[in-house]
Amino acid sequence: MSKHYGEVMHLDVFGEPTIIIDSYEAAIAILETSSASTSDRPRFVMAELVGLGYEFALMKYSDAWRQRRRVFHSFFHQGVVSQYRPVRLREVRRLLCKLLDEPEKFLHHSRHYIGGTIMSAVYGIEVKDQNDKFIAIAEKGGEIFSDVMVPGRYLVELFPLLARIPAWFPGAIFKRKAARWERDIHDVRTAAYNAASEAIARGDAGLSMTSSLVDKSIREHGSVSAEDEEIFKDVTGVAYAAGADTASTIATLTAFFLAMVAYPDVQRKAQAELDEIVGQDQLPDFSHQKSLPYVNAVMKECSRWHTVMPLLVPHRSIKDVEYNGYLIPAGSVLIPNAWSMSRDPVAYPDPDRFMPERYLKGGKMDPEARDPLKFQFGFGRRICPGMPFSQDSLFLAIASVLHAYNIRPPASVNDSSDLIRLGPKIPSGGALSYPDPFGCSITPRSELAASIIQQSRF
Ligand code: HEM
Repeated sequence: MSKHYGEVMHLDVFGEPTIIIDSYEAAIAILETSSASTSDRPRFVMAELVGLGYEFALMKYSDAWRQRRRVFHSFFHQGVVSQYRPVRLREVRRLLCKLLDEPEKFLHHSRHYIGGTIMSAVYGIEVKDQNDKFIAIAEKGGEIFSDVMVPGRYLVELFPLLARIPAWFPGAIFKRKAARWERDIHDVRTAAYNAASEAIARGDAGLSMTSSLVDKSIREHGSVSAEDEEIFKDVTGVAYAAGADTASTIATLTAFFLAMVAYPDVQRKAQAELDEIVGQDQLPDFSHQKSLPYVNAVMKECSRWHTVMPLLVPHRSIKDVEYNGYLIPAGSVLIPNAWSMSRDPVAYPDPDRFMPERYLKGGKMDPEARDPLKFQFGFGRRICPGMPFSQDSLFLAIASVLHAYNIRPPASVNDSSDLIRLGPKIPSGGALSYPDPFGCSITPRSELAASIIQQSRF
């Protein structure tokens, strides 16, 4: 788009200035360098109607947002996410075993890996059953989020007064939808939290974000105040919703499986590196990560190749900001176009091609290569605070699956270019993007690999 309209495009949406930011450089200048003026959010009326207003991800730049973000950060910043690694190792072993038993359900098992890790970290609840209700609740929440966050999908976003019309009013389908979905969103915020609180009261809760928050409150104040309890539900709810639903990390993991079937050479190179560094007689863990540049590059390329949120989450300016001679007035909605940034042919020549080599120089990570994590996770004071957690999830799954399994096209596919055609595209249905459905054949790389997986069964 920037080729035709420039790197920053202004639209007047019914009197509301809306700026589409197409280039990485402009996004850094506007959303990162001027972050003090551009970290507000616009109003998301449909999201409010379905009850998503509790998520600090959608809150205005305010004390309520700061308070929740601070609590969230204390459990998810780079320095503390390693505390969740034992849980991840348990969950990834479970994933490998499930792939051995039912390889055709690889996406279902991947969802459980992501969801199981976050459920343990946030609520101390171990997800065992294939059809765990807490994973289903989070997935439903993710679908609703993806639907209501599409810019301009609902007229009520442009005319917020419409929110006042009653649900029975002819044409008020959005109100009836919102009433139905409000119950699902209520469950996302409270169902697992209540189960964790009951376990804490019984004294048989696992260590988790919820138990730490409750313990701290009891230590400091003797009990959990009603106000604190609301904040705890908000913050654990958003961690669970963003971390367990199909919205984010799982979309990248799905893209990984697709890339591996479509680009077998990449798979072979990553496996050769794993064999050399980890050896064939054990499974990889976090201690190997620094010595696996190619696997790390595969992970980065998955994040770039498949843009999970093509338009990220919009910001809003609270003061005038100048960029390259353009005036961006206070009150503008700022939409970063991550899709366009991920397709920048200068930073990423032949951008539709899956090519981990882009990030490597002389067999090491190239510090000059543009890291897609610098835009796929947003910008400035609103940057995704779950990034270190999601990167840990992805690394362990990608390294473990590649080390243990060969991922090949299903027998029905003769030509891998058919799979390449399923690759990334701008989503038409929701704010979040997933590769189109595809199948693959997943088989252990060797008898030794299969027996190591069997031994890790618990
Ligand atoms: C591949 C995985 C993920 C991607 C691509 C992603 C992307 C994003 C993006 C683009 C934003 C908006 C940033 C902005 O406004 O500039 C965001 C915000 C957020 N993300 Fe993530 N995310 C991922 C995983 C996670 C996980 C696993 C968690 C929780 C553990 C999480 C929690 C949040 C929260 C709480 C916010 C709101 C931040 C705020 O408004 O202050 N995300 N994420």
